[in-house]
Parts: sequence; structure tokens; C-alpha cells
Amino acid sequence: MIGEILPPGVESAELFHDPADLGLFPEERAQIARAVDKRQREYASARHCARAAMGRLGLDPVGILKDEKGAPQWPRGIVGSMTHTEGYRAAAVGFSMGMRSVGIDAEQHAPLPSDGVLSSVSLPAEREWLAAAGSGESSGSGPGEGGVHWDRLLFSAKESTYKAWYPLTERWLGFEDAHITFSLVHEGDSPAGTFHSRLLVPGGTLAGDELTGFDGRWVVRGGLVVTAIAVI
Ligand SMILES: CC(C)(COP(=O)(O)OP(=O)(O)OC[C@H]1O[C@@H](n2cnc3c(N)ncnc32)[C@H](O)[C@@H]1OP(=O)(O)O)[C@@H](O)C(=O)NCCC(=O)NCCS
Repeated sequence: MIGEILPPGVESAELFHDPADLGLFPEERAQIARAVDKRQREYASARHCARAAMGRLGLDPVGILKDEKGAPQWPRGIVGSMTHTEGYRAAAVGFSMGMRSVGIDAEQHAPLPSDGVLSSVSLPAEREWLAAAGSGESSGSGPGEGGVHWDRLLFSAKESTYKAWYPLTERWLGFEDAHITFSLVHEGDSPAGTFHSRLLVPGGTLAGDELTGFDGRWVVRGGLVVTAIAVI
């Protein structure tokens, strides 16, 4: 599923369950040793995906630690991203010579909790758009236009935005700092489309050009929503 929304040059791997006895590198085992079982499983499965994707780039398996901000520490010359949610783990990687950053995210395809989460992760303009698409806080629990829970998709697109942004800037980006707009390209059993994250804070320069936003793709299938950004 993730491979469908990533461009050529980015390799990916995904799992819909946690295989038993996944090996971790000693430094990874030490990093996750005190976490609860559920967290250990998602950490190990996501790294299994990362190593599988790196193998497709012709790279040997290595340990992938996270830094103090949680960002994965890829080997020199590699950019990538990982995600995990109930029933899904994935990783995407590319060579930094051809790809500046990658951000992927997966969420359950269901409405956001109705206890104020939407207002804390969205802009007023995004909430107006969601209401028109039938996925706002006052829209009930059914999906909106095209069979999509757009509020959850918005959340996932923001998470992908942060994961693409952070390795480029090493700075925080709040939910109020990017305005996401969507298009629905494909309807049916697997709605899919594109999105644009317009940055509302200075992004600095990237190869001489101002970083003003990111373009991404999304797909909804099998009870999951998956989003991906690849910055070329
Ligand atoms: C870090 C964050 C994006 C993770 O997203 P999530 O949906 O909670 O969880 P996911 O399972 O999809 O992703 C977790 C993975 O993200 C990656 N990640 C964590 N922090 C990261 C960072 N700063 N930069 C890049 N990737 C990061 C890690 O690989 C992590 O998995 P691991 O701990 O097993 O290595 C989220 O918890 C967060 O802090 N969000 C606030 C910032 C934000 O989203 N701003 C919106 C900007 S528009």
C-alpha cells in the first residue's frame, strides 16, 4: 500500500502483523528494553521494514536508533521515515543524493475522537473545509465525501508533514504551522489522492530555494489511512 504513494527512488516495506522473534541490533534492544511489549513489537517491526527497504537499495542491515527528539538515525547517505499503527507497520527509504527527505504516516481510518482533538490539530480554514466535505466535528461518525474520514486524513497528513520537515530543519512544527489541502483523485474501494502542506512559518532554504511546503499522496484501504511525502 505505501509503495503505491511513493515516487520512484524511494523503497518501502510494510507489515500487517508482527512476525515472531524479530531480531534487533544490541543497541536497539538496549534503547527499547524498558518499553512495554506493544511498543517493543512496533519498534522491532518498523525496523524490520526499514531493513527490508534498505536491502532493496542494496544496503546491508544496520541498527536504526532514534535521537532525543524521536527521529530515526539513518545511516549516512540515507533518508527515510517509519510509521506504526494497530495492524500496520511501514518504512520508506531513499538515497540522500536523489531525495532530500521522506515522511510517512499511517492511522486507523475512523473519525478523530470527538473530545476536541480536531480543534487542537487543525486550523479554522481546515475545519471549514472538513465541514463541507462531511467530516467535521458536527458531521457524525460516518465518512464524508468519497467515503473518507477527512479529519483523520488531515491528522495523518500533518504527521507526515512533521516527519518530512524535522530532518530538514531540526525544528518543531506545530499543527497550526501548516495548512493542508486535499484532492480526491480516485474513488471506489480505495479512495486515494494528493495533498499539499503549505507552511505558515519560514522553512528556510533548500538547495537555494525557499521551503514553502510539501506535496504528498494518500490512500485509504483496509481500515487504514496512509500518507506519504517525498521531498526531491
Ligand atoms: C513524532 C510524531 C509525528 C509521530 O507520529 P505518530 O502518528 O504519533 O506515530 P507513528 O507511529 O506514525 O510514527 C512514529 C515514528 O515516527 C518517527 N519519528 C518520531 N519523531 C520524529 C521526528 N522528529 N522526525 C521524524 N520522524 C520522527 C519515528 O521513527 C517513530 O517510530 P519509532 O519511535 O519506532 O522509531 C508525533 O507523535 C508528534 O510528535 N507529532 C507532533 C508534531 C506534528 O505532528 N506537527 C504537525 C505539523 S503540521
